[in-house]
Amino acid sequence: MVIKVGIIGSGFIAEHHCFAFSQIPGVKIIGISSLDQDSALKLIEKFNIAGPYFKDYHDLLSQVCDAISICLPNSLHHEVSLAALSQGKHIFIEKPLARNVAEGLEIVKAAQKAKKTIFYCENNIYAPSFVKAKELVDGGAIGKIYMGRGREHHSGPHSAWFYKQKLAGGGALIDLGIHDIACLVWYLNEDVEKVFCQTSIVSPDRGEFGQCEVEDNAMGILYFENGAQVSIEESWTAPSSFDVKIELYGTKGQIIVNPSHMAPLEVFSENGFGYAVEKASTTKGWTFPIPAESWTFGYPQEMQHFINCIVEERIPYTDGKFGLKILAIVEAMYKSTQSGKIEVVFYPKIE
Ligand SMILES: NC(=O)c1ccc[n+]([C@@H]2O[C@H](COP(=O)([O-])OP(=O)(O)OC[C@H]3O[C@@H](n4cnc5c(N)ncnc54)[C@H](O)[C@@H]3O)[C@@H](O)[C@H]2O)c1
Repeated sequence: MVIKVGIIGSGFIAEHHCFAFSQIPGVKIIGISSLDQDSALKLIEKFNIAGPYFKDYHDLLSQVCDAISICLPNSLHHEVSLAALSQGKHIFIEKPLARNVAEGLEIVKAAQKAKKTIFYCENNIYAPSFVKAKELVDGGAIGKIYMGRGREHHSGPHSAWFYKQKLAGGGALIDLGIHDIACLVWYLNEDVEKVFCQTSIVSPDRGEFGQCEVEDNAMGILYFENGAQVSIEESWTAPSSFDVKIELYGTKGQIIVNPSHMAPLEVFSENGFGYAVEKASTTKGWTFPIPAESWTFGYPQEMQHFINCIVEERIPYTDGKFGLKILAIVEAMYKSTQSGKIEVVFYPKIE
């Protein structure tokens, strides 16, 4: 059985999707659509993709295939998801599900109507270090989690749209915080009842990318239904390399998950070198290059799971409803930044 996949977008995450699909026997990429022809053609060549390049994503959607990978700016998730679902395709949709809950809810309802599955791409949930920590938590290794901390720090995104409110729907919170929130909900296996959040813009001038209109730093607290209090810290103004860390504190122990700075390689270089890890602002001085980066961060494992779900007609843990739940938490956090108060999370009602 061959699962046919089309890819929309040819930027950073599209390359991880192409790599992931190229590792899975029985998956065929039938084409790439992107506004940027050069990068799309480079992916087609690099991953030996059989299908052609399409400028207009509607032309890709009219091809026969099982699923579409949506690797686009957040503002396009809603429009393109609805279009793909209406053409009877499953969707692999990158985080965040959409810019806000209203858009996300329409995507989830459209999938229900089309009887298609939303595969919500939260790669950390499929990353080996995160998976191992989950096994330990579920096995009772650290008892009841009563406190925790999630953080993602780097020097800032690589494309101008991330910095614009209308295109991204928010900044470091919806871009980075959404990973931590998803993983913390997964680890605690509880819902978040209330939240508090504060944000700031530390570096408004982003050079070639223009003004940063959205928060480039966010700090928040998640109050879980079981009483656990968990903080998150998200930053786009941290020079050096990508830093992803989750700390879980339980009544019987603690776990620290840190795939970005606990790599087997620690390098000090006065000259610098080509590439260390995504968003590393320099390769001079101390760096933590990540071998097999895509695998370390779970992209091929995520896609393998999604493909298995299609073949076996299963729903993944990270489905559209999960993506929407995490978006509802993010939305309540944005509300808290405006009100200055703790806010209750309202989860949209879905069948
Ligand atoms: N899981 C992760 O860790 C992770 C990491 C990075 C990005 N993402 C998510 O992936 C999505 C894409 O981010 P990115 O970093 O790849 O962005 P990017 O800027 O690198 O790439 C965006 C791509 O979209 C294409 N595009 C824009 N408008 C288009 C249109 N109308 N039709 C066809 N193509 C169009 C551009 O040409 C470009 O190739 C975002 O939602 C982002 O949040 C997830």
